[in-house]
Amino acid sequence: MENLEGLRDEILAAVRQAPDLGALEGARISALGRKGRITALMKELGALAADERRHAGQILNALHDDVTAAIAQRKRELGRAELDARLAEERIDVTLPVRPGPLGRIHPISQTIDEVVAIFGEMGFQVAEGPDIEDDWYNFTALNIPPEHPARQEMDTFYLPGAKDGHRLVLRTHTSPVQIRTMQERAPPLRIIVPGRTYRCDSDATHSPMFHQVEGLMVDESTHFGHLKGCLIEFCRAYFGIEDLPVRFRPSYFPFTEPSAEVDIGCSRAGGELKIGRGGDWLEILGCGMVNPKVLENCGVDSARFQGFAFGVGLERIAMLKYGIADLRTFFESDLRWLRHFGFAALDVPNLVGGLHR
Ligand code: PHE
Repeated sequence: MENLEGLRDEILAAVRQAPDLGALEGARISALGRKGRITALMKELGALAADERRHAGQILNALHDDVTAAIAQRKRELGRAELDARLAEERIDVTLPVRPGPLGRIHPISQTIDEVVAIFGEMGFQVAEGPDIEDDWYNFTALNIPPEHPARQEMDTFYLPGAKDGHRLVLRTHTSPVQIRTMQERAPPLRIIVPGRTYRCDSDATHSPMFHQVEGLMVDESTHFGHLKGCLIEFCRAYFGIEDLPVRFRPSYFPFTEPSAEVDIGCSRAGGELKIGRGGDWLEILGCGMVNPKVLENCGVDSARFQGFAFGVGLERIAMLKYGIADLRTFFESDLRWLRHFGFAALDVPNLVGGLHR
């Protein structure tokens, strides 16, 4: 019989050094295949004398077993290496920033709604909604604006033809009717904000017949004017990102709040340029007040026990101030160049931890 030690080393070396699964299979066939070298030697055993055959048989069987085990071992190694290589090649770094693809831009109004919701969400306010087409009872009467009240004319209401159950239908002139709907549906304590579309028959550089407001309403047994002031001062400073932004509450009148105030923020108009911040001048940005007890009663809320505050902010106005948009009508012209300039990255969702836009 030929030099089995040399053969063994040769075969095991071929197996252990096989660079891939194909080469390993080649090495297996050349050793253990039907015409393999070990197979051929085993076939020769028959021609040997009995005691020689037993001895050579044991050696060949051991060789066969060793080669089989070495092949299995190499197979595992190659499999693992192949998996490692694939994992390395297909590796995805999930921490990489998203490529700005063809995702479009977020409209400044949507962005502003998200920012306002993030700020009030942090204070525990939940988002509520109501219909754009309102019943005049919700839009006016329940809010303590009786039929002949001048506020009905002042608001330049769009009336829809006809009536439902004796009530006229209107495009809501403010988000305040959602105060009424919420108080009818849910018992206090309430803490809601209502972003939504509103409509008034008016159109120029600072008015659009369709615009947006965010309403706020808080009702419980102990909320007072101090809470109203605290929440709105905090909102103004967080929204404009100016920690020492001056905020002033100026007495005003709304039928649905008593007392009522308008909120002004500090600004400067030096050199004909409007700048938000400490600057000696003032700019009105929202209306607010303590919910009128008559409004609570209109919703079946006991005004001897509950009280609260409400406010309404014009979204286009605060978006224009923050992002330097000069003409309100441009918001709704669907001009893609405008949207590319003033719009926001789709995945850049505002929150107070990551930061709002400045
Ligand atoms: N609804 C008022 C408006 O549209 C704003 C407002 C809301 C004022 C809530 C006070 C309280 O002008």
